[in-house]
Formats: sequence, structure tokens, C-alpha cells
Amino acid sequence: MTLSTMTKVLHSIIALSMISLIAVGIFMHETKAYELYPIHKSFGVLVFLFASYRVVVRLKEGWPTPVGKTPAVQLIAAKLVHWALLIATVLYPVTGMMMSGAGGHGIPFFGLELVASNYDDDGKAVAFSHTIASLGHDIHGSLTRVLIAIIVLHVMGALKHHFVDKDETNARMFSFKNSRSRLNRGRLK
Ligand code: HEM
Ligand code: HEM
Repeated sequence: MTLSTMTKVLHSIIALSMISLIAVGIFMHETKAYELYPIHKSFGVLVFLFASYRVVVRLKEGWPTPVGKTPAVQLIAAKLVHWALLIATVLYPVTGMMMSGAGGHGIPFFGLELVASNYDDDGKAVAFSHTIASLGHDIHGSLTRVLIAIIVLHVMGALKHHFVDKDETNARMFSFKNSRSRLNRGRLK
């Protein structure tokens, strides 16, 4: 089974963005680098759009079938990890938007104002909904270690395919040769 160009392009864009946003998110949170918040939020919203489309593609077309013979336990582990990653790519931006939007901090999108901020005269954010904002904040902050652990597991799995099994799993996900004609079909073949 080959993978559609859409599957490969979405995987690369979302994977790179997620890794960058996690790094920037932790950095800006730890160092209180408030100037980075708008760019983190803007790229986060962009990931939400790509990731939502990818969920639709996955539900419609199904998952890539494994390359070669893989032990059942490894197949189950890979499927669980893929589901967790797919959910995280939607959950993270959604909880970020809950935290910032409902918290009165606003959601910018590359210069546009998707949700206006709500500051009082002292410059303090006034939440539209404390419940939604704090639920978003709790999930967005507390799941980071779990997410990083899952990504590490996923990358270790990819490395195992490449160096131990020496199969085509990585090649078919990262090779973009001769795939221009499949771009508009947007589905697994
Ligand atoms: C540099 C790091 C990464 C490498 C080398 C990598 C590699 C791969 C490979 C080879 C597959 C295909 C597996 C198969 O055919 O069974 C895959 C699938 C997948 N990867 Fe990654 N990946 C990376 C990072 C990420 C990240 C950061 C995420 C999300 C946070 C992610 C989410 C997924 C998902 C959801 C799938 C299932 C297929 C799909 O929906 O595209 N990957 N990855
Ligand atoms: C794929 C999308 C996203 C990822 C992977 C991500 C990841 C992260 C991470 C890892 C942190 C650090 C959390 C901590 O250490 O407590 C963070 C902080 C933050 N994120 Fe995101 N984020 C994403 C999208 C968004 C979006 C869409 C928004 C808002 C519209 C947002 C708003 C924030 C804010 C305001 C903080 C700082 C929280 C604080 O300082 O307490 N994020 N993000």
C-alpha cells in the first residue's frame, strides 16, 4: 500500500508544527516570553485546521496498513499511539483556544482577531467563562509530558522500522517522488 500525497504532506506539516509548538510553548511558559504568545496561538490555530482535515481523511480512508509482517502486539501498540497522536493534534489547539478565548486573553491569527481580548482598566484579563478557561488551561499544561512520551515512543517505533526491521515504513511516509499526480486525489491508494 502506498500513501497519498495528502497523507504524507499533512503528516510532515503537523508533526513539525506540533514539535515546534511544544518547544515554544514550554519555553514561553517557563520564561514568561509574552511576545511569543500571539505567534504560538496563530500557528496553533493553523494546526487545528490541518489536523481537523486530517481526522476527516483518516475516518474516511482508514489507516495505512502495516508494511510487511509485524507482530500483533506491535501492531496494537502502533494503532494506540497513532490514535493518541491524532487526538492530541486536535485536543491541544482546542484546549489552547478554550484557555485563551474563554479566559479573555484573545485569539489572534496572524494579525487578525479571531476572538477579542477582554482586559479591564488595570490591563487584567477578565474571563468570559472561568470554567471553560481553567479546563483548557489544565489540559493544555498537564498533558505535555504524556504527549512528549507518546511522540518519543512513536519516533522510536519509526527508528526501529528503519534500522532494525529495515522495511519501507519510513520511506513510504517521507518519499515525495512521483507523487504529484496523486496530490488532488487526497486518499490512500
Ligand atoms: C520526526 C518525527 C516523526 C517520524 C520519523 C514519524 C514517522 C511516522 C511514520 C513512518 C508513520 C507511518 C507508520 C505506518 O505506516 O504504520 C507515521 C504515522 C503517523 N504519525 Fe508520525 N512521525 C513523526 C512525528 C509525528 C508527530 C510529532 C505526530 C503527531 C503529534 C505524528 C503523528 C502520526 C500519526 C497520527 C500517524 C498515523 C498516520 C497518519 O495519520 O498520518 N508523527 N509517522
Ligand atoms: C498544536 C497546537 C498546540 C500545541 C502542541 C501547544 C503546546 C503548548 C505547550 C506544550 C505549552 C506549555 C504548557 C506548560 O508548560 O504549562 C503551551 C502553552 C500555551 N499555549 Fe499552546 N499549544 C498549541 C496550541 C495553542 C493554541 C491554539 C493556543 C491559543 C489560541 C495556545 C495557547 C497557549 C498559551 C496561552 C500558553 C501559555 C500558558 C501559560 O503560560 O500558562 N496554544 N502550549
